[in-house]
Amino acid sequence: MRHTNFPVTNRPVPVIGLGSWNLERPDRPRAVRVVRAALDAGLTHVDTAEMYGSGRVEDVLGEALAGRRDEVFLVSKVLPGNASRRGTIDACERSLKRLRTDRLDCYLLHWEGPHPLADTFAAFEELVAAGKILSFGVSNFDVERLEEAVRVAGPGRVACNQVLYHLESRGIEHALLPACRRHGVALVGYSPFAQGAPETPETPGGAVLAEIAARHDVTIAAVTLAFLVREPGTFTIPMTSRGSHARENAAAGDVVLSAEDVARIDRAFPRGARRESLDTL
Ligand SMILES: NC(=O)c1ccc[n+]([C@@H]2O[C@H](COP(=O)([O-])OP(=O)(O)OC[C@H]3O[C@@H](n4cnc5c(N)ncnc54)[C@H](OP(=O)(O)O)[C@@H]3O)[C@@H](O)[C@H]2O)c1
Repeated sequence: MRHTNFPVTNRPVPVIGLGSWNLERPDRPRAVRVVRAALDAGLTHVDTAEMYGSGRVEDVLGEALAGRRDEVFLVSKVLPGNASRRGTIDACERSLKRLRTDRLDCYLLHWEGPHPLADTFAAFEELVAAGKILSFGVSNFDVERLEEAVRVAGPGRVACNQVLYHLESRGIEHALLPACRRHGVALVGYSPFAQGAPETPETPGGAVLAEIAARHDVTIAAVTLAFLVREPGTFTIPMTSRGSHARENAAAGDVVLSAEDVARIDRAFPRGARRESLDTL
């Protein structure tokens, strides 16, 4: 599994992680087993949020990560409505309790809401000073809001921007990815399978992925993920409810796509015209 230094923390983190939205479905024992299988496979970059299952997902992760916390780079998110100066601290305390840990490796503002960024970031800095979070970042910020976040937080403080990024939604490559790079902010792509399932040989472009997958002896899913983390400073966090899929996804961390592979995928899934607003799916 390839690792890349996660900004601010300077910790090597697996480029392929594990998302957790809807992880608590269909049942808790299975979810706990999947998370442990994912960790065994090397998916130790775990993404969650207080929003997921209204706290139930963090609670499941607390059980799944018991005794294994030190293996994991653990990320959670505060809901915008909770992200006031005081509310952020309280939300973090609740997340830590559900996750049964004393710290988060990164804590994100899930999307921008009613509270001034300065208040949320002041709370994040207080949590950093207390050792309750090791870094902080944002999510769903377009170029203009990212520039503002960096201005408010100060240079070198925003660790990542978590945004939608999959084969049919590559708009972030035009301006947001370069902006992240300029500011030393990691780009963490979410919903790499568009919340559904990977392409199949029957889908448009899927035949190209299938041929590349066969040559690398991995699945279409793994080729998809490898493409989405081909640029330096990028991560992806697929969600799965199956141990077998977790192992397939982890295999993507060892796939080295050739320039020709990348060019073929690029042609099969064009990035489209430049747009300023972020896609939401
Ligand atoms: N910051 C934000 O606003 C935001 C928004 C959305 C998501 N996220 C984060 O990003 C994570 C991932 O996004 P997502 O959950 O929306 O969708 P996703 O990862 O694009 O898609 C999940 C779906 O892909 C399937 N899948 C995963 N691996 C597979 C494989 N190897 N082969 C076949 N199917 C596979 C899963 O089915 P199986 O269960 O059957 O494997 C599941 O139905 C979330 O869980 C969450 O942590 C963040």
